[in-house]
Amino acid sequence: MSQRFQGRTVLVTGGAAGLGRSFAEHFAAEGAQLLLLDIDRKGLDETAALLRARGTMCATYRVDLAVEAEIQAFAAQLIAEHPRLDVLVNNAGLAYGEIATGFTDLSQEKWLRYFAINSVAPVLLGQAVRPALAAAKGNVINITSMASYMPATAYGVTKATLASMTYAMATHFSADGIRVNGIAPGIMETPASKDSLPAETYARVQGSQMLKLHGVAEDIARLGLFLASDDARFITSEIVNCDAGNRMRGWRA
Ligand SMILES: NC(=O)c1ccc[n+]([C@@H]2O[C@H](COP(=O)([O-])OP(=O)(O)OC[C@H]3O[C@@H](n4cnc5c(N)ncnc54)[C@H](O)[C@@H]3O)[C@@H](O)[C@H]2O)c1
Repeated sequence: MSQRFQGRTVLVTGGAAGLGRSFAEHFAAEGAQLLLLDIDRKGLDETAALLRARGTMCATYRVDLAVEAEIQAFAAQLIAEHPRLDVLVNNAGLAYGEIATGFTDLSQEKWLRYFAINSVAPVLLGQAVRPALAAAKGNVINITSMASYMPATAYGVTKATLASMTYAMATHFSADGIRVNGIAPGIMETPASKDSLPAETYARVQGSQMLKLHGVAEDIARLGLFLASDDARFITSEIVNCDAGNRMRGWRA
């Protein structure tokens, strides 16, 4: 096992479960110390216990990314405790329930909440921890979705916005030598995707892949580690699809 992140510090949002937990485990396996942020305290503790059992240094932070004051307070604490931050993975997001089905029927309040968490928080958090990223010449990875390419629901629209945010962040953050990239996953089995999507929906969406494979969290984590590593030092403002060739068919259309 290579140790590309030995001595490095990695912040993963949405680290309580699913893709975020897988990112944390894979960065830890390559030597990183982990900072985990989520609104779900119980899930954070579970991920932290998994990492610590393997000897990884890990800190957890319960933060609501819908609340700017919480983002700013967290970032101030992070910079005081960790003046160098090598990687920020903006993985937290709302993906299931009404955001994944609603569009014309949504109130302004709901739209603004969805945008706040899925599209705006990654930028606010990135900017708030930017001094620590700049000190490490670090990088950011935003998790969008194949649903961003042909959005049919609020979810896809918020992820399309996050894709645009990724290009804009890459432009602005390059002044500090910080790379910003994105990953657009296809349908990946996580506890949340399995529990939230009806089995027939899951099968239909998976059935439109070019490659007849079952996507798992590790597929995304491995790609994330490459993009976050020095192997990708010349790559910025790029969104890499990881969906077995599914992207143009839409997720829920
Ligand atoms: N699993 C898939 O098939 C898939 C496909 C494409 C994109 N994605 C994206 O990957 C990410 C992770 O997906 P997942 O399947 O692991 O889902 P998940 O629901 O397990 O993970 C999302 C995490 O974000 C956290 N979160 C939600 N709102 C928050 C808030 N206000 N403040 C802080 N944390 C908050 C949740 O508590 C949760 O731990 C999401 O952004 C999702 O949109 C997933």
